[in-house]
Amino acid sequence: MLIIGGPSSQTLASRVAFEMGTYPVVSDFLRFPDNEQYLRIQYDVSGEDVVLIQSTVTDSDLFALIQMIDACSEAKTITCVIPYMGYARQDKLFNPGEPLSARAAAKSINCDRVFTINIHEKSILDYFSCPATDLDASPLIGKYISNLDLDSPLLIAPDRGVEEMVKNTASGLNLEYDVFDKTRLSGDSVVIEQKTLDLSKRDVIMIDDMIATGGTMAESIKMLKNGGAKRVFVGCVHPVLARNAVLRLFNSGVSDIFATDTIEKIQSSISVSSLIVDNI
Ligand code: R5P
Repeated sequence: MLIIGGPSSQTLASRVAFEMGTYPVVSDFLRFPDNEQYLRIQYDVSGEDVVLIQSTVTDSDLFALIQMIDACSEAKTITCVIPYMGYARQDKLFNPGEPLSARAAAKSINCDRVFTINIHEKSILDYFSCPATDLDASPLIGKYISNLDLDSPLLIAPDRGVEEMVKNTASGLNLEYDVFDKTRLSGDSVVIEQKTLDLSKRDVIMIDDMIATGGTMAESIKMLKNGGAKRVFVGCVHPVLARNAVLRLFNSGVSDIFATDTIEKIQSSISVSSLIVDNI
């Protein structure tokens, strides 16, 4: 089995290969003078089972994955691991004339098997033309939390969409949890329904599937701080951390941000490599 990392998941692919006792295949990622992407896999994949690991954080990342699949046309089987799948939040039509972008993205990925990790909406898996499975990184987040030195910790789900994930993490760690009610006003602005909280001397950990603009977390952190929380940590599977999200979170009073390496950022202190190795 050949492990081939795309441009956005080079570290994760290398970790997967290392755990499997092998080396990642090296590829070239360049751009032509007109800015078109060039990709070359430096290995003859003919007749091989290949695993392509590439998060589609940007449009260029998605196209790189499409190029990688095409470059592996002579392989025996192609498995795509898409640790973070971009466009997954565009899973509904709100106005006539809109594309279902999550469907369009899924349909552009033609291979033998797909794995995603905590995809925003599981129904997107049905749009792939091959079997697709979503893996859950929350046990790895739970393990990370169990190693933190916390005072009387409380887990918080910042909205109902992640309640199940936070509830399972809390029960695995034998911790209390609570859930907030969120209304989204725009792409970067949300309102969190006010709750009276008594959090004095308590550390709080908020978990979400992703942090994008940081709006959800920033509003929640303010409420937790008003409730007297000693420290607030935020964790997520996918650290999109767009624009000034990191500054917004620290400005709101967060003590630290942790995430997995589905998107490779400085905050990605938890690796999902074992999850991938166990499933491919
Ligand atoms: C929404 O359903 C997700 O679970 C996240 O809460 C959301 O994507 C976070 O976005 P932002 O960081 O922009 O508030």
